[in-house]
Amino acid sequence: MPSTLTTLLIYLLISTATATAITTTTTTKPSGKWTLLQPNIGITAMHMQLLPNDRVLIYDRTDFGASNLSLANGKCREDQNDVILKKDCTAHSIEYDVVSNTFRPLMVQTDVWCSSGSLVADGTIVQTGGFNDGDHVVRVYKSCDKCDWKELKAGLINRRWYATNHLLPSGRQIIIGGRRQYNYEFYPKVSKSEKAYNLPFLVQTNDPKLENNLYPFVFLNTDGNLFIFANNRAILFDYSLNRVVKNYPQIPGGEPRNYPSTGSAVLLPLRIVQRNVTVVEVLVCGGAPKGAFVNAQNGVFDGALKTCGRIKISDPSPKWVMESMPLARVMGDMLLLPTGDVLIINGGSKGSAGWEYGRNPVRYPVVYKPDNPLGHRFKIETPSTIPRMYHSTAILIRDGRVLVGGSNPHIYYNFTNVLYPTELRFEAFSPSYLDPRLSNLRPKILPGSQTRFGYGDQVIIRFMVLGHMDPKSVSVTMVAPSFNTHSFSMNQRLLILEGGNITVPIGKATYQVSVRAPPSCYIAPANYYLMFVVHQQIPSEGIWVQLG
Ligand SMILES: *[C@@H]1O[C@H](CO)[C@@H](O)[C@H](O)[C@H]1NC(C)=O
Ligand SMILES: *[C@@H]1O[C@H](CO)[C@@H](O)[C@H](O)[C@H]1NC(C)=O
Ligand SMILES: *[C@@H]1O[C@H](CO)[C@@H](O)[C@H](O)[C@H]1NC(C)=O
Ligand SMILES: *[C@@H]1O[C@H](CO)[C@@H](O)[C@H](O)[C@H]1NC(C)=O
Repeated sequence: MPSTLTTLLIYLLISTATATAITTTTTTKPSGKWTLLQPNIGITAMHMQLLPNDRVLIYDRTDFGASNLSLANGKCREDQNDVILKKDCTAHSIEYDVVSNTFRPLMVQTDVWCSSGSLVADGTIVQTGGFNDGDHVVRVYKSCDKCDWKELKAGLINRRWYATNHLLPSGRQIIIGGRRQYNYEFYPKVSKSEKAYNLPFLVQTNDPKLENNLYPFVFLNTDGNLFIFANNRAILFDYSLNRVVKNYPQIPGGEPRNYPSTGSAVLLPLRIVQRNVTVVEVLVCGGAPKGAFVNAQNGVFDGALKTCGRIKISDPSPKWVMESMPLARVMGDMLLLPTGDVLIINGGSKGSAGWEYGRNPVRYPVVYKPDNPLGHRFKIETPSTIPRMYHSTAILIRDGRVLVGGSNPHIYYNFTNVLYPTELRFEAFSPSYLDPRLSNLRPKILPGSQTRFGYGDQVIIRFMVLGHMDPKSVSVTMVAPSFNTHSFSMNQRLLILEGGNITVPIGKATYQVSVRAPPSCYIAPANYYLMFVVHQQIPSEGIWVQLG
């Protein structure tokens, strides 16, 4: 009895404390700002990837009716595999130009729905799989004023629908899983005889009715192995030997976190110390309880998960540490901001991922500060006015804003007589660090800084800060532009470079830091990255750099 009473009392204390915390956070002036960039981009942004020329490749699917954007020059696509329109003269992909805030239609030939991809070292996007006639296809997109998709019909061994890709130290991509695919393969292949490899972990984590392990959360650990989280647990995986190196404990509570119980996950910032990264942590947040997908099909919309689990994957005996978000969320996107904070954005607080199964949009983004003490890490930001439910996306761009698009496409692109109409509005969220009142403290990287370098190179960056400069609070970060779909950002990683904390004044309001480039392709695969100078938690506009 006394112990039950104590538990109850503690529970009451905690819930009151939590409630108070939420109230104070929401009543203190929320920060961050939303801007409607385009009232109608013609398609729904289901997949997004930023390119190194500040343009964004966006696409939805090809087989669900006419979009609101015509193809260029009266072109049409004829496809007998498409269910709704055999001849479709509308676009299902666009290139959005961040700088001019304009977009143009692109033409994709086969179905790219629920696919995956990566930006690769030469600045092209290599995208894999999709649905129907597109499920074995590899497509390449290289940006230029008139470029369009190029398709390689038989690029994959197995169909890849809801798979996750990751760029590897070798420069190839690994493509993991997909619906009813308990295996992985690589692209490009090293030889014609290269096969797909079984991954029993995907069988073990496959809930026969609910799946709950699609779009697994995959991160390249700094030891070269892959961390793969599916359903409610994770492994450390040596893909070259097809060997499980480590089994991580199940996430406390055991609730699923992957599609259709879609939560999200990030690899927390990697701090390089003495040319190495010794602490590697993953944060998994939100999702929907087991059964939520089936319940939603029957009109019952379960409350989303409120918990996050954080684990030091580099620890010899890793344990999950649970935290509670101020708002429960399914289908949230977790993005690394240039400062190393994590933005949690989009999604709903009821239901599940899947067409028509989400309810109660959560319009408030939340920022998570990984270095704050436990219990003081979350902050609620200004809400959007637009629900961003299933099939919404978010990506970080060079100026520190976050582009947000998509939500709730319907078969036939219905805009009326549906709860959440197919969403064509395209927005940007400006985190509080972009507040103009901070402009005096914002670093500006000066032209002439080195933008191409090799592993371990010494790189000099010059920058300007007009206001009071605190050299103790400067850091230099590098962010990999990720491929975002279904609440997961593939290849997302942020590096805090060594030497970024030693600032040398070189003139009036101008300073220099000499940083060391990441030491190896295990810590940062060769690619384009966005580099930022951060001062007092305020990032400069980023510059594109090319590593490796
Ligand atoms: C897009 O929608 C608008 C408004 O409903 C309509 O006038 C226009 O014809 C549509 N365009 C296409 C290509 O469907
Ligand atoms: C800079 O950071 C490194 C660790 O990354 C630390 O060893 C060093 O003392 C720091 N230097 C200054 C000037 O803060
Ligand atoms: C980097 O750190 C890891 C983890 O502490 C260690 O196992 C590894 O040997 C280190 N690598 C180098 C090159 O020092
Ligand atoms: C969308 O529109 C189509 C065609 O008018 C209709 O058959 C379908 O039921 C609509 N979908 C929803 C979810 O209302």
